[in-house]
Amino acid sequence: MFQINENYLKLPGSYLFSTVGKKEREYAAANPNKKVIRLSIGDVTQPLAPVIIDALHGAVDEMGKAETFRGYGPDLGYEFLRTAIAENDYRARGCDIAADEIFISDGAKSDSGNIQEIFGPDNKIAVCDPVYPVYVDTNVMAGRTGVYDAARETWSDVIYMPCTQENGFAPLLPKQTPDIIYLCFPNNPTGSAVTKARLQEWVDYANKTGAVIIYDAAYEAYISEPDVPHSIYECRGARECAIELRSFSKNAGFTGTRLGFTVIPKEIKSGDISLHSLWARRHGTKFNGAPYIIQRAGEACYTAEGKAQLKEQIDYYMRNAKYISEGLKSAGYFVSGGVNAPYIWLKTPNQMSSWKFFDYLLETANVVGTPGSGFGPSGEGYFRLTAFGSYENTVEAIERIKKL
Ligand code: MLT
Repeated sequence: MFQINENYLKLPGSYLFSTVGKKEREYAAANPNKKVIRLSIGDVTQPLAPVIIDALHGAVDEMGKAETFRGYGPDLGYEFLRTAIAENDYRARGCDIAADEIFISDGAKSDSGNIQEIFGPDNKIAVCDPVYPVYVDTNVMAGRTGVYDAARETWSDVIYMPCTQENGFAPLLPKQTPDIIYLCFPNNPTGSAVTKARLQEWVDYANKTGAVIIYDAAYEAYISEPDVPHSIYECRGARECAIELRSFSKNAGFTGTRLGFTVIPKEIKSGDISLHSLWARRHGTKFNGAPYIIQRAGEACYTAEGKAQLKEQIDYYMRNAKYISEGLKSAGYFVSGGVNAPYIWLKTPNQMSSWKFFDYLLETANVVGTPGSGFGPSGEGYFRLTAFGSYENTVEAIERIKKL
């Protein structure tokens, strides 16, 4: 008789965005005359840029001719894309990353969930609180998180690093020493960012303690301030301790098209074993690569035309972020984020719980956001809105909230 992975039974509730989506659909079905505006999941709304569409068309045509047809691609990604990433995302910023340290994937969600597989079961993880739920949930599935305390909404074997108004939503170095540190900057969900000097402290700490940092830089394209690093490899010593995850979802609109990558420098080792070799083994065994046509679309993002078109999209979403931030501030809300990230983190009014505010906003303004407590206990009393809506809907949502 088969047995299940009982770790799955420990997971409380369903995936945050599934719960939010279900509530939204139920409300919309029960109130068909209401226009519900969705500023919840960080899903893009602008169409793919023309340069990307051209690249897709070109690649589709290649697939239709015997001379240019492609079957299985290289395990770790096509050379043309890995080279474009190494040159543009790294060398151009003075980061020493080679094309063969880049692993192409179908997105940062999968990579951030799968990366824990190459670590032993007894590693202790440290996460920001609040945090993107995938990091914790996938470690729960792997049996690495201990016992769940339902009252505190924490796991006994996870080190939580509170990100609060007092510390500017940027974690302090933990008191207990972790083996694996998950960091995401610009941050999801709080929209906070750290300076290069602050990030350097984390790299130094990881190198001193022998920890590895899993650095999720999915939102780097939204950085607007000059002292905020775009990559952890801008810090000295990061090649010895940091894995970086990147995505084409938020900077190029690939949420439905799926493309991302993970960078593992060859220096990160446990004894003689490099993490690079383990991830290459995993990728080779479990993954057949992102589709050729999508990798060609990814390559197009790095052309001069591509960069200009994507910048326009980022500017579009950041105009929304500004509208949300300024609108809510003018209505008396405490608001953070939205400067280097497409997320706005607000304090709920009158000490309402995050879920209560969710219901209140849905029912009175017909606006859907994401409850802060869904990201962790320190998110209680906060709420996240995304800047990924259309400008018109964003304006309408904020005007409705201002009238409450
Ligand atoms: C979010 O809303 O936090 C993200 O869109 C989720 C994701 O990227 O998987």
